[in-house]
Amino acid sequence: MNSGPLLYFGLVATLAASWFGFVVVPHQQLGALQPETGANAAGTEVIYPAARSGEAAQGRAVYQSLGCVSCHSQQVRSENNGSDLARGWGHRRTVARDYLFDPTPLLGVSRLGPDLANYGERLGTNSFPITRLYRPTLVVTNSTCAAVPFLFEERPIRRNGPSPEALALKGDDAPAAGKEVIPTLRARQLAAYLHSLGTSADLPEAPLPPAEDANAPK
Ligand code: HEC
Repeated sequence: MNSGPLLYFGLVATLAASWFGFVVVPHQQLGALQPETGANAAGTEVIYPAARSGEAAQGRAVYQSLGCVSCHSQQVRSENNGSDLARGWGHRRTVARDYLFDPTPLLGVSRLGPDLANYGERLGTNSFPITRLYRPTLVVTNSTCAAVPFLFEERPIRRNGPSPEALALKGDDAPAAGKEVIPTLRARQLAAYLHSLGTSADLPEAPLPPAEDANAPK
């Protein structure tokens, strides 16, 4: 018996089935996703997700280039799949729409540090503790987070006085007399990116839990 045609049709059917499963179905499910107008955790009407500001978008590239994804995920799992919500890493699980404006979603490679999907919301109105990038142990004792001091510059204090951006470093960490340590553009971009991380808008496919809606941190 000549099994050539059968083999041929078998191959075509296999390729067609996988193209259908891996391309057509995901495109139908996700291809038409649009931003949604709704309320965030603080009850403010927002269009979500919104594209990041230029500074934050550049900070995203810095985040990528420094390999922060090797320790930090950006995906909050649902209650049934882990303790992420109980740890306060988000108000709801993350869904595909959260990454709508991310050219490559930075889901993370492993999770040695806290999930950062909702980090900006955790900061709230507090500014990002930029010293954490210079030396994380100055902010959290025994922190094993990566230090990126090369995003800072040590320079002589200018004639009109210390820069308002200079890090408040004490003791052994203090720079030599007459010098100050200030964040470079890349450090400021990274800080803007971390501040822009937030996933707590109410979405139809991932609604905020009603109890938390009312008591959500500001
Ligand atoms: C070796 C693993 C590792 C790498 C690489 C790493 N981190 Fe961390 N990160 C941690 C750990 C562990 C913590 C928790 C301790 C702490 O708060 O410092 C943390 C905490 C943080 C926090 C505070 C999160 C919170 O919920 O309070 C931020 C922000 C952060 N890291 C940013 C970064 C950035 C930006 C980079 C890339 C430059 C980075 N991390 C690289 C391990 C890592």
